[in-house]
Amino acid sequence: MYFSILKTITFSGLVAMVAGHAGHEHEPVFGQMPIVSGPSDIPVNFDRPVLDKDVYMPSFAGISTFAHLPYLQCFEEGIVEDYDIAVIGAPYDIGVTFRTGARFGPSAIREGSKRIKGFNYEIKVNPFKSWAKLVDCGDIPFEPFDAEHAMGQIEAHAKYVLQRPPKPDQQVATPPRLVTLGGDHTILLPVLRAMHAAYKKPITVIHFDSHLDTWAPEIYNVKAKQSRFNHGNPLYHAAKEGLTTNGTSMHVGIRSSLYDEEDIQRDEALGFRMVKANDIFTMGVEGMVERIKEVIGPKEDTLLYLSIDIDVIDPSMAPATGTPESGGLLTRELKYILRGLNGYDIVGMDVVEVAPAYDTQAQLTSFLAADLIYEIMSMMVKRGE
Ligand SMILES: *[C@@H]1O[C@H](CO)[C@@H](O)[C@H](O)[C@H]1NC(C)=O
Repeated sequence: MYFSILKTITFSGLVAMVAGHAGHEHEPVFGQMPIVSGPSDIPVNFDRPVLDKDVYMPSFAGISTFAHLPYLQCFEEGIVEDYDIAVIGAPYDIGVTFRTGARFGPSAIREGSKRIKGFNYEIKVNPFKSWAKLVDCGDIPFEPFDAEHAMGQIEAHAKYVLQRPPKPDQQVATPPRLVTLGGDHTILLPVLRAMHAAYKKPITVIHFDSHLDTWAPEIYNVKAKQSRFNHGNPLYHAAKEGLTTNGTSMHVGIRSSLYDEEDIQRDEALGFRMVKANDIFTMGVEGMVERIKEVIGPKEDTLLYLSIDIDVIDPSMAPATGTPESGGLLTRELKYILRGLNGYDIVGMDVVEVAPAYDTQAQLTSFLAADLIYEIMSMMVKRGE
């Protein structure tokens, strides 16, 4: 497909050149173009398809959408095209407290996703060959100068993507699953506002992070109204606004130092439970999965949202992030824990805080972020419509 588009472009360019050069105004007639030679002396006749549509496409080629998914301009008014899983980028990073740069997260994750394809052997599904239509909507347009305004734009666009027309066999449309590429963790708040509006009830959030992200705005001693919203407190606001379930939402991987011991009490009162990074020594990964299932409750009753701050992983394996914390989970451990959630109704997910400027030349963090999304996409598709 890409090759034939390329051909078309090259051909139009050629036509323009020829027409321009010759200075006449006639539209060129397709069948009358001269036959020219391709690089391997294969005659190229513009009159008919030259190459097979299913020609091998190397994974390192092509324009970067997530996992080579088709790009759909989902934000344009009047789009009625149906989709089941929508990837959106939210390159917002004006809420960070330490290293900046997560605005380049979405493009880095897309670059890191190039090799993703095919059958997920652990989940037993190929998310790209299934009942589901997956699209990459590109990035949300927003003004990165004004936090409140930008958050409003992210919320509005996420809401827009979550609306879709009912399928032919449906009375009422169900929202598509949403995959958001951050951005710093502030974006979780506008996204959860949009999720809440779409489902009209609180969402159970499993928050994978080394930090609690429920710090009260007062702690930062900030004065401006907009400074109340930053990447250290999306879940504080979300819980206060009733967007998250109380007592069944939780954190996984916590290990950072706190401002105060009270941080834990505030967090609990906001409705969050936790499994710390250190718990892996006593519980093991299997035990962590069991504990998570105990907290979030049965599969039938749970609308699950997974928010992954890439700093949940040890910085040795995911260095490209704004506030790294030593002593984190290993990549295989997190993948195992995620797969333990297979069967739940995962209605949305994000990977945030990928700041590619701090990555290794080997793009470790970007590859990881993309792979984690692939695991969750697989479970979304496996679960069914
Ligand atoms: C969550 O429930 C507990 C216990 O009922 C309550 O004390 C707390 O205020 C609730 N938190 C929120 C944010 O509603």
